[in-house]
Amino acid sequence: MDAIESAAEFTLPQVYKRHIFACFTQRPPNHPRGSCGSLGGQPLWERLGAKLETEGLMGQVGLTGSGCLGFCSAGPLMVVYPEGVWYRPKTAEDVDEIVETHMKTGKLVERLVIVPQR
Ligand code: FES
Repeated sequence: MDAIESAAEFTLPQVYKRHIFACFTQRPPNHPRGSCGSLGGQPLWERLGAKLETEGLMGQVGLTGSGCLGFCSAGPLMVVYPEGVWYRPKTAEDVDEIVETHMKTGKLVERLVIVPQR
């Protein structure tokens, strides 16, 4: 058994069907840790918000700009709950596909999934 129990053990009312946290951290271009911002995150997250709005999903899907998620050089990163899926989109089309597929149907966009390693 894991040392930390899964939150899925609880049956609490949920505010959103899914909740996206997208890293908005911006470090200087030559910073040794890198950042999602320097890897092009901000325009992608703006596109994500616009796409969710256009598709009428904002009431069902929460979008929160986050600070550093801890895996900076792998960015730009977003994580989707309750599934705990991490995505690294690189283009506006990638963002659109995440919305069209994962947010609308619950299916993973496997080619954009990453599993951060600690
Ligand atoms: S800067 Fe985005 S994960 Fe650290």
